[in-house]
Amino acid sequence: MQPIAHYQQVISEYFATHLQDQEPENLYKPIKYILSLGGKRMRPVLTLMSAEIFGADYKEALPAAIAVEMFHNFSLVHDDIMDAAPLRRGNSTVHEKWDVNTAILSGDAMLILAYRYFECYEPAVFQSLAKLFSKTALEVCEGQQWDVDFEGRNDVTIQEYLKMIEYKTAVLVGAAMKMGGIVAQASPENCNLIYDFGCSLGLAFQLQDDYLDAFGDPETFGKQVGGDIIENKKTYLYLKALEYANPYDRESLLQWFSVQPEESAEKVTAVKQIFQNSGADDATKEAIAHYTDKAFETLQKMDIGEPKKQLLKVFGQKLMERKV
Ligand code: IPE
Ligand code: IPE
Ligand code: MG
Ligand code: MG
Ligand code: MG
Repeated sequence: MQPIAHYQQVISEYFATHLQDQEPENLYKPIKYILSLGGKRMRPVLTLMSAEIFGADYKEALPAAIAVEMFHNFSLVHDDIMDAAPLRRGNSTVHEKWDVNTAILSGDAMLILAYRYFECYEPAVFQSLAKLFSKTALEVCEGQQWDVDFEGRNDVTIQEYLKMIEYKTAVLVGAAMKMGGIVAQASPENCNLIYDFGCSLGLAFQLQDDYLDAFGDPETFGKQVGGDIIENKKTYLYLKALEYANPYDRESLLQWFSVQPEESAEKVTAVKQIFQNSGADDATKEAIAHYTDKAFETLQKMDIGEPKKQLLKVFGQKLMERKV
């Protein structure tokens, strides 16, 4: 087992050395651009860690890990178009730096490139990986569509929200870990448990993402703080604020979220205040802790040694404390 920073470096080095300057430039440059902006590399790190936890050399899982990170970056490029986001990882988003059409096609190409990495594996492993990947990728699309549909609705329930984030975010974290298990030929029970562990962690991760979108530090967050508020996103913060706010704040929140998305510092400040007044911020933190604990409970059921469980636990705890 290697330190997390080592796995992150392996992923970044792979992209730094394997992405060539291909033509057409306007297809490949944006791909290189977004992949070289870094990010936390959480999903591929989890794939590599999971392979080692189940007894394989992490290098065997590298193509699968790269596929997962490539897919994740594809989803971000398209997500930023859908969310009208100006910033990603502290830099201009692809559709801002180039244009929307370029971001659509470069994103498409990344999705196809992602699949290609599975061709490195022998047929049985290839089939398992590709099957899991296709199922997951389609679920991400479903989650993303719900996310957008919810922008225009004012009757979204917590249950619907949880389903939405499970699909748009959590299943990919689960799949990233299961892929490590598949490569290492772990037992089906362990593969399913690591998938469940990843999904719970992924739910906590998206709740934290929602929290940081409102309360992150603009200097370090790397994305536009308040972007979800501007876009009328039905986040956990918003739904809990509607539930807990006093009648006056509740009306005011509904009013703010009934206007068409456009940048407004006044709206962001007012809505954040309601999130805090109502206790929605604390409720979100509690939910983050709840799903992290749920992940840890699943971990206990896994047939792996205690030190390995501890490593995954530390990873989960660090995620909860993250600021970006
Ligand atoms: C952002 O993912 C999209 C979400 C699912 C919240 P990350 O926060 O993992 O983004 P990077 O890759 O580290 O930039
Ligand atoms: C992103 O959710 C989920 C996917 C990209 C599939 P968000 O829209 O919250 O992610 P960020 O905040 O832009 O990274
Ligand atoms: Mg977004
Ligand atoms: Mg989005
Ligand atoms: Mg977000």
